[in-house]
Amino acid sequence: MRIGIAGAGRIGAYHANTLTNLPGVDEVVLADAFPDVARRAAEEVGVTYSANVETMLDRIDALVITSPTTTHGDLIRAGIAAGLPTFCEKPVAASLDEAIELARLERRSEVPLQIGFQRRFDAGYRRARQAVASGRLGFIHTVRACSLDTAPPPEDYIRVSGGLFRDCNIHDFDAIRYVTGVEAKVAYAVGGNKGTSYIAEADDIDTGMGIFTMADGTLVTFSGSRENSYGHDVRMEVHGSLGDVAVGLDESLALVSAEQDVAWPTGPRVVNFMDRFLPAYQVELAAFLDVARGQTASPCTVFDGVQALRMADACDRSRREERPVRLDEIAGADLAEGGAR
Ligand SMILES: NC(=O)c1ccc[n+]([C@@H]2O[C@H](COP(=O)([O-])OP(=O)(O)OC[C@H]3O[C@@H](n4cnc5c(N)ncnc54)[C@H](O)[C@@H]3O)[C@@H](O)[C@H]2O)c1
Repeated sequence: MRIGIAGAGRIGAYHANTLTNLPGVDEVVLADAFPDVARRAAEEVGVTYSANVETMLDRIDALVITSPTTTHGDLIRAGIAAGLPTFCEKPVAASLDEAIELARLERRSEVPLQIGFQRRFDAGYRRARQAVASGRLGFIHTVRACSLDTAPPPEDYIRVSGGLFRDCNIHDFDAIRYVTGVEAKVAYAVGGNKGTSYIAEADDIDTGMGIFTMADGTLVTFSGSRENSYGHDVRMEVHGSLGDVAVGLDESLALVSAEQDVAWPTGPRVVNFMDRFLPAYQVELAAFLDVARGQTASPCTVFDGVQALRMADACDRSRREERPVRLDEIAGADLAEGGAR
């Protein structure tokens, strides 16, 4: 199979490397808005490149979109028009309205689409989901999720990222749906700015926190920060009436105990999302190959991407208006499919 990648930046080059090592991939082609960027990245990874995305579409069997969030919508539409099974990095689009339009297109189209929420393919998040679904935790009363990055992305990235909730905590939002199997009902969120000045200047926050009340009454807290230089800390705790599970609770945990004589965790700490989620990205892209071959349905649809984006929009509105926001105030409620998956 020939896979084309649109966007040869950080995650594009990384996915190119992952794809070259997956069985069944005959060729990986990189394209970028800047041909030199594609050429350099292709040379570094050892794959081929195309002078532009349009010509690449004619010589591939499936498309992977890793360009900035603001360009996802046009490229998803191009993938569908070319009849190419398409994987697109999160978030689906920069605006919820465009994401909703793409979800409607997905329903009318025969072309399979997969959105890049790699935590669905992480062994820990999968076990947590199974633990909830099995009933062995009893009823779930509380979930705590966090995504703390070691350093902010560059200023150019921040300007088009959509903000902390849509860009970073959106991974938590999808994981909350995926693990609990329930949709969010009400959001209340706050944000702070004590760190890098270009984040505040872009009308964004470097740190955020919030609460969801889920449709079944489960209470969820989440937090996120771009300024956690001690280590990349991505976790989820699920607490039930009969038991609990924690994702990300291992020797690499970026926390220091305040208790005497407690040396745990012993490290080494994880530095960034690429180290933390390498196996998950491999399983995720292997799953996309199965989708592209027509062997399985998409494990993370545009609709899933819309639901996570609606949670992000609710948090953003809540933070700005300093009030709880019901999810049914947010556009796209009519798309609902009857429960998270
Ligand atoms: N799943 C994850 O964990 C994860 C991690 C990082 C980034 N992402 C997502 O991946 C996307 C890219 O992030 P990044 O960090 O690699 O950004 P980046 O800025 O490093 O790279 C983006 C690349 O796309 C190119 N580009 C711009 N417009 C284009 C177009 N129309 N067609 C083709 N290429 C174009 C740019 O020149 C650049 O080389 C973002 O949407 C981000 O949210 C997801």
